[in-house]
Amino acid sequence: MLEAFDFVLFGGAGDLALRKLIPGLFRAHRNGELPEGTRIIPTLRNAQMVLEYKDKVRDAAQKHLNKDEFEATAWDSFATIIFPVFIDISKLDDKWAALAELLNNGENRQRVFYLSTPPSVFSDACKHLHESGLITKYARVVVEKPLGYDAKTAEEINSSIAEYFKEEAIFRIDHYLGKETVQNLLALRFANGIFEHLWDARTIDNVQITISETVGLEGRASFYDGAGALRDMVQNHILQLLCLVAMESPNKMTAERIRAEKLKVLESLRPLTGNTVKYNTVRGQYVAGQMDNTNVPGYLDELGQPSNTETFVAIRAHIDNSRWANVPFYLRTGKRMKSRFAEIVIQYKDVAHRVYPETAGNPVPNRLVIRLQPEESIKIIMNSKDLGKHETHLSPVVLNLNFAETYKDFHSDAYKRLMLDAAANDPSLFIHRAEVDAAWAWIDPIIEAWQRPENKPLGYMAGSWGPIASAQLLASDGRNWFNIE
Ligand code: BG6
Repeated sequence: MLEAFDFVLFGGAGDLALRKLIPGLFRAHRNGELPEGTRIIPTLRNAQMVLEYKDKVRDAAQKHLNKDEFEATAWDSFATIIFPVFIDISKLDDKWAALAELLNNGENRQRVFYLSTPPSVFSDACKHLHESGLITKYARVVVEKPLGYDAKTAEEINSSIAEYFKEEAIFRIDHYLGKETVQNLLALRFANGIFEHLWDARTIDNVQITISETVGLEGRASFYDGAGALRDMVQNHILQLLCLVAMESPNKMTAERIRAEKLKVLESLRPLTGNTVKYNTVRGQYVAGQMDNTNVPGYLDELGQPSNTETFVAIRAHIDNSRWANVPFYLRTGKRMKSRFAEIVIQYKDVAHRVYPETAGNPVPNRLVIRLQPEESIKIIMNSKDLGKHETHLSPVVLNLNFAETYKDFHSDAYKRLMLDAAANDPSLFIHRAEVDAAWAWIDPIIEAWQRPENKPLGYMAGSWGPIASAQLLASDGRNWFNIE
């Protein structure tokens, strides 16, 4: 049972807070999921912002929530539990004392410090929380990506937080783990015999994980150009999805056991270094193209300067253990792609011997397709006889579990889920420090090899499926990507 808690949101007027965090908390309030007495305490950089804050978040919530979700009366009652405060994170002054006074009214209450700020201020925030006596045994800190630029900077960030918070109280967020279908992947795997017995190199031909986006830079040039698709999406979201697909069954669904199994997967990833990087990865950068019949500029035009940052990446990865021996995991993500979708496709091996003549048509490979967005669904693609015809003819049919249909009033909200988990002190869907380290240990050599001139990003047209080399990566293995139109 969730107890009333204090949710201190550093960076309370930032983009993430306005787009996702405050709307997520409002959803929780409207659903009756916030216990009576819960307080939301956004920290802001000046006194004027405090005065304007409630109007500002109301406008933002109206914009970012679905139309049917915003209700003026529910918002008004939600607004009464928001207590914005003025704090300069970099300076320990009387504002911190005021925050302490506010919080110490409820010294034994659950307390979440959410750092929705650049990592450069994590250390100051934690230090000042400590010096103000705010890190009680009921306190935990939630930190947002990017957790570093490479293994070394990640280590620095993690160490600076660890000076003040114990590992059990550090909640590293990856919002992909809060998505319902991602958690359902675990239920699908570990609560269903049919899948658990068909989940290895004997039965599976390959696995594809795609996060394809249509957006471009979205005004985040300074962050994105320093990061690129590998750091922004693969190091975290895609590797986490890979872990959930590939991990062994934890003997219990506890945070500790789940995270230990995920870590083993990361540590079993076959390293890609030096020359193997060119053969197994494709880097791309979008050039001008057309999307929905509209011309869109290329990455360099949006950026306004030369850059070798990739906006697309495709990787052929292998997990060196007996379950996954020789099964390629094809990973792919890109901006300004043809369609927005995120999907995990498990492609099964063909039947050992084809009994039907060619006239019956070519059976398609069986696929289990787990769609995370735009809608959440799980499908199985199978072959079936065309009913009613005398001659046997095979056609693909789809077993479709469409959650949007089944759960009509359900609005999936990964951030809401994760904020409530943090409040309930459940770290199962958060990342352990060892996972961050293991992920960077695999990513760093790829970045290093990409510094070679022959590994510059290849151009791809905005509105396409990425560089041609991405299709060739799979074609060279006799396979192809599964795209949606
Ligand atoms: C973020 C990345 O972590 O995830 C963004 O920084 C990306 O670049 C976003 O657009 C995608 O999240 P979602 O949930 O919209 O797929």
